Amino acid sequence: MLVAPSANHVYAEQAPTMAVAELAVTTTVENPERTAMAGVEYVGFGADALDPAAIARQSSALALFERAGELLRPVQLPAVQVMDDDLLTITKYAGKTNEMFTRLLLHVTCAQVRTAGPERPVLPGGVRQLDVLDPMAGRGTTLQAAWLMGHNGFGVETDERAVEQLAAFMKTYLRRKRLRHKADAAPVRREGRVIGRRFEVTAHPGVATGGHDALEGAPALTMSVLTGDTRDSARLFGRRRFDAIVTDAPYGIVHGARSARGNREGRGDRSPAALLAQAIPVWAGQLRAGGALGIAWNAFGLTRDDLAAICADAGLEVCPGPAWEQFSHRVDSSIRRDLIVARKPAR
Ligand SMILES: C[S@@+](CC[C@H](N)C(=O)[O-])C[C@H]1O[C@@H](n2cnc3c(N)ncnc32)[C@H](O)[C@@H]1O
Repeated sequence: MLVAPSANHVYAEQAPTMAVAELAVTTTVENPERTAMAGVEYVGFGADALDPAAIARQSSALALFERAGELLRPVQLPAVQVMDDDLLTITKYAGKTNEMFTRLLLHVTCAQVRTAGPERPVLPGGVRQLDVLDPMAGRGTTLQAAWLMGHNGFGVETDERAVEQLAAFMKTYLRRKRLRHKADAAPVRREGRVIGRRFEVTAHPGVATGGHDALEGAPALTMSVLTGDTRDSARLFGRRRFDAIVTDAPYGIVHGARSARGNREGRGDRSPAALLAQAIPVWAGQLRAGGALGIAWNAFGLTRDDLAAICADAGLEVCPGPAWEQFSHRVDSSIRRDLIVARKPAR
């Protein structure tokens, strides 16, 4: 597998190592490892019966080749995306989680999902459509990455302005792409009281319009984002449950966990570690049995062992094994980003 050069912009020289780890935790290929040929770096692996769609879903896959003696023969990667890349790449803003890293976090988390339940549409490439929640959604990078791969995206975000900006972008984008869609914003009420605002949009990439060719096999996509505190996520979403929860937690540096209510109501301090300790049990309750939680966080503020203990206390099983410890990478002098994935036991 040839790794996309753009991965190097995110992970510097670590991109192939992270591509190896992603393959290891999301596929059944044998012995993935970094390898160089004629001065170009690849990720090599063995596979008896390869599913090219499993490679196409890798966040950094650029191309796939089969070894034929001394030569490399190109292998077609099937189309697995149901939306264009630009859904994820057009917007640029301070605090945006890198798009490629978001795709990686989403992929390694969704690959752990073993939920049963109502029949869900099968996506191009053969996996099922999932309901993905980002409970600290910002301006929606995870939700857009979910749409790209055919999943539904749900979000909670404390910054109302961020939700407004996401709503404005999605409406303009879907209009410009001439995709059939329906968007709506409304107050959220519980027991007669307004507790936040909701932005909701459904799009139909599988339906042809004057300016859009129907994408065969693409299901309808839903995105629903509520304003509020992530620790209230269960109250905000009520009985709804999710297959995967995927979030990039505040780093405690530039984008600290500043909740206006946090201190006033004595609901915790400003550190991301304290916020995660309070939020993870709430999120665990919102997962379906067999669902998975994936969190990216700044390892300078909270150790992997401490975060794993918080997940375990919430009844989740942290994915074990050396490959899971290969995702940690430097973002800048104050951020060492890592990711952890934990599963809710299947019933
Ligand atoms: C690292 S950013 C995530 C950015 C997002 N992935 C994006 O690309 O737009 C963390 C987000 O968590 C939000 N946040 C922090 N504390 C929160 C809380 N208590 N409840 C809900 N959201 C919170 C911040 O406003 C910020 O948007």
